[in-house]
Amino acid sequence: MTLDSLHLLFFKNYDEANLTFSPGINCFIGDNGSGKTNLLDAIHYLALTKSAFTATDAQSIKQDGEFFVVKGRFSSPQPSLPPRTETIQVSLRQGQKKILTHDKQPYERMADHIGRYPAVLISPYDTDLIRQGSEDRRKYFDSLQAQLDHDFLELLISYSGLLRQRNATLKQSGAASHGFDHDYLLALDEQLVPLGQQLHELRAVFLADFLPLFQRHYQQLADKQEQVTLAYKSQLTNQDFGALLRVNERRDQLLQRTHAGPHRDDFVFLMDGRSVRNYASQGQQKSFAIALKLAQFEILAVRRGRKPLLLLDDIFDRLDSKRIARLLELVADDTFGQVFLTDTNLARTDQALARVQTDIRRFQVRAGVVAPV
Ligand SMILES: Nc1ncnc2c1ncn2[C@@H]1O[C@H](COP(=O)(O)OP(=O)(O)OP(=O)(O)O)[C@@H](O)[C@H]1O
Ligand SMILES: [Mg+2]
Repeated sequence: MTLDSLHLLFFKNYDEANLTFSPGINCFIGDNGSGKTNLLDAIHYLALTKSAFTATDAQSIKQDGEFFVVKGRFSSPQPSLPPRTETIQVSLRQGQKKILTHDKQPYERMADHIGRYPAVLISPYDTDLIRQGSEDRRKYFDSLQAQLDHDFLELLISYSGLLRQRNATLKQSGAASHGFDHDYLLALDEQLVPLGQQLHELRAVFLADFLPLFQRHYQQLADKQEQVTLAYKSQLTNQDFGALLRVNERRDQLLQRTHAGPHRDDFVFLMDGRSVRNYASQGQQKSFAIALKLAQFEILAVRRGRKPLLLLDDIFDRLDSKRIARLLELVADDTFGQVFLTDTNLARTDQALARVQTDIRRFQVRAGVVAPV
């Protein structure tokens, strides 16, 4: 699967852009603040229906603009037929709902799109996953699992919906004079418990499959032979979810939220048995984060049967020559498919890619205007 072209209207700092891509490597070169990462983010929208960076879609509308449009044409090879082309468009008008279309047909649910056009972004913010709280890690692994398995995504949506209902019930009953509707809570829990148990099991199974891929990529990237691991930390590992809800019932009522369940799970990152956040060096943390992304690429490629688009933001700036060389080996040996990368320096990019055989296209980005070099 390749992204053949991209069309933008009033997206972030772009009024309009029309780009035609190489199926190999596409380089966006420009000064700081020119709009390179915004182009990667537009591609991220096509893959995952949302920005990789901004919290709300409205922030992606150009300042003082009314709407944005991001449109991409994808093509995929078909045995003994011409390549199949498909057009994906994401658009948002100020104050309205985001619209996603596939060949002009609107999707009823964004969720139906997730995973069909996989993309993996390697960005300077990746180490946030190590430093931030458990919610970020849960979101990261949930998003990855959702791209791999539509049933997991449906389960996650159902669980989150019920949990919201449960928390709303706890809040209402706190405010209401008649007190607490215990029967209603029990009825909700009866639905919540099997979904939560299932979510727990799917996360555990996923992590067991993902871990060896991650460990192999880390060993290939890092200098030393330190042992890294990802541990799944969940209250449900050795306790029954239903029993946990009952034990916490009093506290849940008092504090008006649900204290136990897979929404409290964490994924713990360890190096030689110690916390990566507290003990690993900056370089080791970078390798850790990149190894996560490379393992993500591999598992998506294998399970979805199509290589994800690879978005490399500022890699030459941030990584030492050894890690860059390792990444470029993967580019050269055809592990990756289509690649989009950003850099501030054309000469440095050309030098780094000098020995890569793949077709390369370069684009110059200047203050929201982008043109092939
Ligand atoms: N909604 C928006 N409207 C107008 N401008 C925006 C909007 N959102 C972001 N920008 C601007 O887009 C500019 C380019 O951002 P981008 O992150 O793509 O730059 P970059 O080329 O990747 O820079 P760097 O090399 O520093 O990473 C920023 O100055 C930012 O303020
Ligand atoms: Mg940038």
